[in-house]
Amino acid sequence: MTKKPIDAAVRRRFTTPLLKWYHTLGRDLPWRTTDDPYHIWLSEIMLQQTQVTTVLPYYHRFLKTFPTIKALASADLEAVLKQWQGLGYYARARHLHRAAQVLVTQFSAKMPKSFESVLALPGIGPSTAGAILTIAHGKRYPILDGNVRRVLCRFFAIEKDPREKNVDLWLWHCSEALMPKQNASHYLQAIMDLGATVCTPKQASCTRCPVEKSCAARKKGLETLLPLKAPSKKLPHYDYFAGVLCINNTVLIRRRPLKGLLAGLWEFPSERVAESSKQGSVVLAYEQYFRETLGIDVGESKPYMTIGHVFTHFKMTLHVFLHHSEKQERMTFPLEWLERETLSDRPFSSAHQKIVLQLTQKKHQGELFQ
Ligand code: ADE
Repeated sequence: MTKKPIDAAVRRRFTTPLLKWYHTLGRDLPWRTTDDPYHIWLSEIMLQQTQVTTVLPYYHRFLKTFPTIKALASADLEAVLKQWQGLGYYARARHLHRAAQVLVTQFSAKMPKSFESVLALPGIGPSTAGAILTIAHGKRYPILDGNVRRVLCRFFAIEKDPREKNVDLWLWHCSEALMPKQNASHYLQAIMDLGATVCTPKQASCTRCPVEKSCAARKKGLETLLPLKAPSKKLPHYDYFAGVLCINNTVLIRRRPLKGLLAGLWEFPSERVAESSKQGSVVLAYEQYFRETLGIDVGESKPYMTIGHVFTHFKMTLHVFLHHSEKQERMTFPLEWLERETLSDRPFSSAHQKIVLQLTQKKHQGELFQ
């Protein structure tokens, strides 16, 4: 990849109008009015793969529940997952919790100031480490998240796949070279805001862009075509079933293992329908599963609801059945009979949370729990 040097003139053409724009049109966000590294770290983790508007209520609630790194470190993982419920990418919450414990035991419950120490914490990659150190500790480290990558690919009209190793390295170099010597923190937040509000994935609102005049993609008319996208992969689709087994006012739930997809979250006993099963046999697979794994005959079940959910690597249709059990079989962890009223104290995955909502809605209670 040909690398034109990024000299002081290029830096000024980009950074000066960007900072000016940020100071009048940048977003007013709660983590921008604090210098508490814990708050800034939390915001950076929540903002990975998630938009600001979604993050805001979670951010406030999380800090109310866990106001300090120490409070977070000593909380149960389950309580942390409960606060994360609905935000997705739950590994972020598990890593945050583990990282808080590392900070308490190794760094007196403070965010360290060296890049290597921050990078070594669970859940923190080079871009997040750069953001935390620059924003919270006034250092000068570049970042390269999705927003920044898109802005740079367009500004320099990079017509190559940004996931290629040498293109990625070049983008890191650009990100670093464009940083002003002072105000690095404002610069980082400005470029992220530009990517999130003006130079967005679906639209390049160039007439509102402070660097329109020097943007190479704009000059070439390539702004909506860049960055080059990976060919979209068709996600596989799988059918799952879940059984809501009720007796009186209690429901059977199960905690997922602490490793793997949706680790540590609760759900109604559920399983993927084997690919070999023919259409229409979801109910048979469901009955067989409960008979063979839990020794419960769920033959008299009713279809309750169907839920569609898209994960990063597959699509799921979850077929939910409702069964009134005759007697409360003894269950051991990770299975548990739980009072309906306390279902919403537990963290559930998004799909199963929809079942919880349906089960706890007043209008459905009579019919279910008589
Ligand atoms: N995305 C990631 N970090 C951000 C921040 N500090 N402000 C706005 N958007 C962001």
